[in-house]
Amino acid sequence: MYRTHHCGELRIEDCGQKVKLAGWIQRIRDLGGMTFIDLRDRYGISQLVFNMETKSDLCSKARAAGREFVIQISGSVVERSNKNQQMPTGDIEIDVDELIILNKAETPPFTIEEISDGGDELRMKYRYLDLRRSPLQKNIILRHKIGIEIRKYLSDLDFLEIETPFLIKSTPEGARDFIVPSRLNSNEFYALPQSPQTYKQLLMVSGFDKYFQIVRCFRDEDLRADRQPEFTQIDCEMSFVEQEDILNTFEGLTRHLLKEIKGIECEEFIRMPYSEAMAKYGSDKPDLRFDMPLHNISKISKGKGFKVFDDAEEIIALSVPDAAEWSRKQIDALTEWVKRPQIGASGLIWMKFEKDGTMKSSVDKFFSEEDKKEWIDACGSNEGDMILILAGNEKQVLNAAGELRLEMGTRLNLRDPKKYAPLWVVDFPLLEWNEDEQRFFAMHHPFTSPRKEDMSKLKSAPGDVRANAYDLVINGVEIGGGSIRIHDREIQMQMFEALGFTPEEAEAQFGFLLGAFKYGAPPHGGIAFGFDRFTAIMAGQNNIRDFIAFPKNNNGRDTMSDAPSAVSSKQLDELLIKIIPSQE
Ligand code: AMO
Repeated sequence: MYRTHHCGELRIEDCGQKVKLAGWIQRIRDLGGMTFIDLRDRYGISQLVFNMETKSDLCSKARAAGREFVIQISGSVVERSNKNQQMPTGDIEIDVDELIILNKAETPPFTIEEISDGGDELRMKYRYLDLRRSPLQKNIILRHKIGIEIRKYLSDLDFLEIETPFLIKSTPEGARDFIVPSRLNSNEFYALPQSPQTYKQLLMVSGFDKYFQIVRCFRDEDLRADRQPEFTQIDCEMSFVEQEDILNTFEGLTRHLLKEIKGIECEEFIRMPYSEAMAKYGSDKPDLRFDMPLHNISKISKGKGFKVFDDAEEIIALSVPDAAEWSRKQIDALTEWVKRPQIGASGLIWMKFEKDGTMKSSVDKFFSEEDKKEWIDACGSNEGDMILILAGNEKQVLNAAGELRLEMGTRLNLRDPKKYAPLWVVDFPLLEWNEDEQRFFAMHHPFTSPRKEDMSKLKSAPGDVRANAYDLVINGVEIGGGSIRIHDREIQMQMFEALGFTPEEAEAQFGFLLGAFKYGAPPHGGIAFGFDRFTAIMAGQNNIRDFIAFPKNNNGRDTMSDAPSAVSSKQLDELLIKIIPSQE
């Protein structure tokens, strides 16, 4: 037997016990007469003690070992004279009788402790070592726990976990596909699924009326903190349901997880129409941990001779609590911040509503006391607040004001990672106009059903049609999205037409689904949560990378195994693929 206990397990009550432990040496401290080793495994750290006077050979052996050696020890649990309150095992240590070195280790390239001295790139290259550190181990354990709870919860509601294929037909709607060449079918390609969307709908046609799958998805898109090229969805679909049924089921799941994992009881989730989210927060994923809404002050701000406002499509203001004290320097820095290309504002107008009731702005030349009073009323500002104003074309200025709101929330510490503010965003537009391609794209995907009452506009005013689609948003992060689907072949064809497909193109790409719709497709709908994002949010973090055992870096590379990489010419020949050497 390698071990009788784990390294995080022993307590004062265990004193006097003979134990065996196995693990990695985190640290060796040689204090002359005594040598201490911190022995680590996934459960924690135990201190080992070696006495030079009484067991000199053993002590010398311990001193000769190095960091990250894998060892096994036998010894007795004893009470520490110098207790460490920071460690769960800090009341005891193991007086070692026997030490076996199971494997040696080279000095690791960075310290494997709670906080490491290694940079991002280095830790990614040696991911298997970084994963030994307790913050990452905690994340992976959290992910496991959430996965188990989800399976239990959905299974208790009669959902079946059914696997769908990874080698599927490429469908160019949505993000870019990862393509896989087929050896047996030369010059033909599979795609890796961006999601199991069409398969889960087919499962509904097959009668499995409640499906779920914790499933890997693949998207060849630009990466960010909350986006990986391969990520995991909690993918679900139900038959004979309306939007309310789906929202209730998955609100139930989310509340259950928040309660089980975080001990948090949430109130019923707010349901906010997309149009309200955009107007009030400049985002379809508002962070409701703090309020600070946007106010459209276009009507009361135009026509006063200030060209920037007069030329703008929209003028948007937000009132920042207790910011009237901000210095010129702070405001200048914020102005530079809004001018960054990611935000794209041309400038920032401000008005301070001082504590003594006076009003001072950067545009006092153009706006009277009365005008400024109107701003205060429109924004509901209090003495001591500062109103920030952006102007520009509608889409860009709303987006910039939404970003500015988030930035102010961050600067004022209003985005508490321990707080959870979930909401449903509903009534999304069905279609979105793409300027570059001069055609409509589905805002969710082409299988989303239009709202019944908007159906007649699908031909005449496609941009005004609302969808039976919804997103779950927590703390400004889109955690999940879904919709009630089209289950009528005719409507599905009309949708493809609105997206610019000819009937032949629709048939060639989605014939299998259209075909299935001929044979009795039930009304159905579903949702998919981003599992990585959900787990990160549950840990109060935004970067999903630390919640995936082996993630890719920002260039989509696995620097540890060095993928992607070239393949042999034999492999390429079998696939009839010719590499054209790059011109560089
Ligand atoms: P959607 O594309 O909105 O919907 O994806 C669902 C959820 O998956 C997560 N997600 C990602 N997480 C990490 N990295 C990525 N690259 C990434 N892309 C998406 C998000 C998102 O909310 N088939 C539909 C769902 C449905 O209609 O049932 C779909 O895939 O959290």
